[in-house]
Amino acid sequence: MRYLRAALQGLLTPEELELLPSGFNRIGHVAIICLHPKLMHRGSDIARALLELKGVRTVALRDGAIHGRCREPKLRVIAGEPCTETLHRENGCSFKLDVAKVMFSPGNLYERARLPKLVKRGEVVVDLFAGVGQFSIPLAGHSSPQRVYAIELNPVAYGYLLENVRINRVGHVVKPMPGDCAAIAPRGVADRVVLGILHVTNRYIPLALEVLRPSGGVVHYHESVPSKLRFERPVKRIRDAAGGREVEILDKRVVKRYAPGVDHIVVDAKIGPAANF
Ligand SMILES: C[S@@+](CC[C@H](N)C(=O)[O-])C[C@H]1O[C@@H](n2cnc3c(N)ncnc32)[C@H](O)[C@@H]1O
Repeated sequence: MRYLRAALQGLLTPEELELLPSGFNRIGHVAIICLHPKLMHRGSDIARALLELKGVRTVALRDGAIHGRCREPKLRVIAGEPCTETLHRENGCSFKLDVAKVMFSPGNLYERARLPKLVKRGEVVVDLFAGVGQFSIPLAGHSSPQRVYAIELNPVAYGYLLENVRINRVGHVVKPMPGDCAAIAPRGVADRVVLGILHVTNRYIPLALEVLRPSGGVVHYHESVPSKLRFERPVKRIRDAAGGREVEILDKRVVKRYAPGVDHIVVDAKIGPAANF
């Protein structure tokens, strides 16, 4: 990253400058960085440089991968204010969240803007893994669905989801539901189902099909997949789970690079009527 290189020129050795991260994430007032193990001892110099940037008041180090069923991040504040609860604004929406407790991926920015453009007036949408409202809030704010059911298992994320519904004034459209989507998702109601989770998404395709209206609808299927298997594996998984139902692939795209050799992809698939329809 050019800014960091310039700011740290003279302070870091040429070898250390080479190891600087190519970028950092910014969520609200918090800058989040990953450091090469050989740069850890330079963490406070690097953090001080980031604190010079407009609006950055806290610098946190990513200490490990997002983990567990509730997709919790591992962050450690290394400079600035200790508070990791923030208000993040993007695409005309506000998201309140604690970046040390719940997951929010800056790399999904385009996807959060793309999805509302696909939703037609009067649709019913079910967001099976709502988080703090990453998809539900812009869907409700920028398109005109009749209802968005936003289901979230993690009580901390659910608390922020409630708060974000309130601050974005979408309570007349979004119905937050606390709990496991497998148990509580409404069946047979949706024109569109969002499967915004990675690693385990394929296990939930049968649920998404039950949640769709018997006449069918669209699923937005996210998956982390080895680059060489994209889009073959996700498309096959959707077709296999659909059984005899018709599947039309409307779109497929890479959301972001997830890890070396692994992509986060999304497939938009239109599912035809159920056999008994
Ligand atoms: C990776 S986050 C993604 C949030 C948002 N969909 C996005 O793409 O930015 C996945 C969320 O799903 C929640 N979750 C995991 N399993 C769930 C389940 N069975 N039912 C409802 N929510 C679940 C986690 O707590 C987490 O907040």
